[in-house]
Amino acid sequence: MTTTPTQRLIFDRELIRRYDQPGPRYTSYPTAPYFGRDFDAKALHGALDHSNASGRPLSLYFHLPFCEHLCFYCACTKVVTRHHEWGTPYVAHLDQEMALTRVHIDGNRPVDQLHFGGGTPTFLRRDDMAFLLDSIDKHFHLLPDDQGEYGIEIDPRALEPGTLRLLRDFGFNRISIGVQDLDAAVQKAVHREQSFALTAAVIDEARQLGFRSVSLDLIYGLPLQTPESFARTLEAVLALRPDRLSVFNYAHLPERFPPQKRIPDADIPSPDTKLRIFAESIATLQQAGYLYIGMDHFALPDDELAVAQREGSLYRNFQGYSTHAGTDLLAFGMSAIAMVGPTYSQNIKDLDTWGATLDSGHLPVERGLRLSDEDLLRRHIITRLICDFRLDFAALNRQFNLDFRPHFAASLPALEAMAKDGLLHLDAHALTVTPQGRLLIRHICMAFDAYLAQKSVRYSRVI
Ligand SMILES: C[S@@+](CC[C@H](N)C(=O)[O-])C[C@H]1O[C@@H](n2cnc3c(N)ncnc32)[C@H](O)[C@@H]1O
Ligand code: SF4
Repeated sequence: MTTTPTQRLIFDRELIRRYDQPGPRYTSYPTAPYFGRDFDAKALHGALDHSNASGRPLSLYFHLPFCEHLCFYCACTKVVTRHHEWGTPYVAHLDQEMALTRVHIDGNRPVDQLHFGGGTPTFLRRDDMAFLLDSIDKHFHLLPDDQGEYGIEIDPRALEPGTLRLLRDFGFNRISIGVQDLDAAVQKAVHREQSFALTAAVIDEARQLGFRSVSLDLIYGLPLQTPESFARTLEAVLALRPDRLSVFNYAHLPERFPPQKRIPDADIPSPDTKLRIFAESIATLQQAGYLYIGMDHFALPDDELAVAQREGSLYRNFQGYSTHAGTDLLAFGMSAIAMVGPTYSQNIKDLDTWGATLDSGHLPVERGLRLSDEDLLRRHIITRLICDFRLDFAALNRQFNLDFRPHFAASLPALEAMAKDGLLHLDAHALTVTPQGRLLIRHICMAFDAYLAQKSVRYSRVI
């Protein structure tokens, strides 16, 4: 197995200290805070109608927001309730949303990619899950024989017997599981108690059923974590040999996510401790054979993401890294974000208003954006940098019919300063991110973000 030099990573403490400042995660460009209310359902109809001419494959995202328990750290869009029966009207509304969308979409376009995210998708009772799967099958043309990338986020604490088999039989072939931390004191402090045995049992069952990729989520920087406790968590998790591992930096923004107020500041590890935890985790992961894909993600060398990165075909969208570029992303459920042709559109974030809008026969779009040619160019650059850690100027100039240097004259001083500091190499032919610059890729992308100066948005820190 050959790894390209881009998959090497060097942790440079000084550089990280100097450049560690809040920044977007670039699951889209322009980022969601710049979507506007002038983009409405009618604008989405137009984008959907227009997209059929391309014949592009489809990617479907379903936001399933319910969770039975509240994890205090959580920054996801969710609805916490013990009422599992709330899933029934929710999936009925999803069926309505698909029907309203299908009016504008050619049903022969194949679904390359399908993702259930949350919240907790497996909060749904098995009958509701079965209804949802039937409904997707009724409205869309799914690929046979595991040809698609069909993934679901699983919370092992909320998984009815038989649900995994139902999902596998439908064609789901990858799962991602939230673990966060295995230490008992940390789990108590964040109000998420989930045993190692439970997580291991779900992975075991998934592998026996033939799911081909298992991904686990960890968070560093949670209350009461220490480098030693997190090292124990990592060691236990690595024994499960997940194909992918996300190691997220805890985003503590209590003004935006009020339940985080239940985490006392004094319990959160200091920036120095966090840096140590992260540095040691990277060393452990590299020793265990994992490659850094980028933006919190690690993968085994033969995982599809790692292979796609080596081949230059890696892509990134709202669900994170993917091997499927060139699709139109249709998104269903409260708060879900679609990407159709040169547009983004986000659904209404309030559960009742989302449902009532569908009941009145309208697509529940709250806001969105039509990208300009300049936005599309900058989106391309940011995507390639995040996926390849390299930008080839000749290819870019050809594709967009421009001359990189004069066009990005305003970005050059920031890029040259980063080159001087060792984050990247800049010459006449290319911008290449160094192994030390890779952890600061967000910062490099920010040099191409034309919106940052427009309004102040609170972002989490890079590390
Ligand atoms: C959309 S959540 C849903 C996952 C699923 N509900 C679960 O908890 O297993 C996906 C991941 O986001 C991460 N996450 C949630 N809140 C976070 C925060 N404040 N900072 C960093 N990562 C966070 C967690 O690792 C979580 O597993
Ligand atoms: S981390 Fe997952 S289970 Fe916990 S509240 Fe957030 S979405 Fe729900």
